[in-house]
Amino acid sequence: MEKRNRLAAVGLFLCACSCVCMSSPGEIDPLVYDEQLLWVSGAQGEVNTYRIPLLTFTPQGSLLAFSEARKSSPGDVGAKFIAMRRSTDKGATWSPTTFIVDDGSNPDGLNLGSVVVDEDEGSVILIYSLCFHLYYCQPSSTMMVQSFDDGLSWSLPRNLSVQLGVKNFAPGPGFGIQKRYNPNKGRLVVCGHGTIEGDGVFCILSDDHGRNWYNGAALKSIPYNQKKKAQDFNPDECQPVELTDGSIMINVRNQNNYHCRCRVVARSTDGGESLPIDDLSFDYTLVDPVVAAGALQKDGVVYFTNPSNEQYRVNLTLRWSLNDGKSWENKAVQIWAGPSCYSCMTSLDSDSVEDRKYIFVVYEKGHKDCDETISFVKVHLYGGR
Ligand SMILES: *[C@@H]1O[C@H](CO)[C@@H](O)[C@H](O)[C@H]1NC(C)=O
Ligand SMILES: *[C@@H]1O[C@H](CO)[C@@H](O)[C@H](O)[C@H]1NC(C)=O
Repeated sequence: MEKRNRLAAVGLFLCACSCVCMSSPGEIDPLVYDEQLLWVSGAQGEVNTYRIPLLTFTPQGSLLAFSEARKSSPGDVGAKFIAMRRSTDKGATWSPTTFIVDDGSNPDGLNLGSVVVDEDEGSVILIYSLCFHLYYCQPSSTMMVQSFDDGLSWSLPRNLSVQLGVKNFAPGPGFGIQKRYNPNKGRLVVCGHGTIEGDGVFCILSDDHGRNWYNGAALKSIPYNQKKKAQDFNPDECQPVELTDGSIMINVRNQNNYHCRCRVVARSTDGGESLPIDDLSFDYTLVDPVVAAGALQKDGVVYFTNPSNEQYRVNLTLRWSLNDGKSWENKAVQIWAGPSCYSCMTSLDSDSVEDRKYIFVVYEKGHKDCDETISFVKVHLYGGR
């Protein structure tokens, strides 16, 4: 009898310990652990507005944040810098802003963009467009810069339209992926969208670490290359993530609210070469005011951020899914109740216990308008424990 009680006590202890000590996906309980502003619009001499935040890990374990530094107006068109800040201590402190690309006084300057890490060669690649709106200039060009030293220095811009053709392509905004699983392990996959009329999700691919690029999947709008009406099918800005089965899930802005005021989800099982209509779905849980959103897969859990509201860009919310986005856990976490627009996520993927605990978010945040600041958030996935 005594012995049985002791065994029961040991059993209880083991259970309590495994519940507290181990972090299985079921116990995810995100906590906004740290938040700081990376950019404030209007606060620095040469820049009017910061928008379109991107965030990535680097092969060396740093974080790089990028944004469009719009020189003279808050609008999408106009001259810009690409602004960057770098953190080598997991987001605790950040370098001063450096401007890594300057489009001069181009009336239809650069637009971000997609950042993709090549872990095989240890480089960070940033892809952006020039003259996307065909405003006082054409054709539109797809451009690339690359860093081999953890974001400290960057190559001169390279014109990928020479290989890809001059179709308007606005990458991201967000990150591109390097396939970690088969099929096509090692491939770089960068997805984006076209002009409003010639819109759709388009992916560009590289099988040699960014030296050569070619056109992959196209999920075209309907009617393609024609003026759109309300509720036409018009997939737009997008964020791909690789799932652990090697397929790519692309979370897409539903520009004309086709079928729902919610996100479009496309899938590729051939490394970004096609996005079959058969694998297209609409995620009613992910209500959306028509905006660019963030998505991430970490340790088998899919995360999603957007301003979760059907009408307005407010209520920046983090959701997570334990079944590859088939359903979402009920307990969403609000990051910011007020005006909030574009967002992007990343995580560090060393095998350390510490790096398993966090994901990182950048998003557009304001009190009256969401283009007032760009904020960085460190999210503890296990309630701060
Ligand atoms: C990029 O290349 C395309 C195709 O050759 C060309 O039409 C375009 O003018 C180039 N863009 C820039 C900025 O050099
Ligand atoms: C914020 O998002 C949550 C989760 O989707 C939702 O339940 C809530 O109604 C939203 N609030 C507003 C004001 O949009």
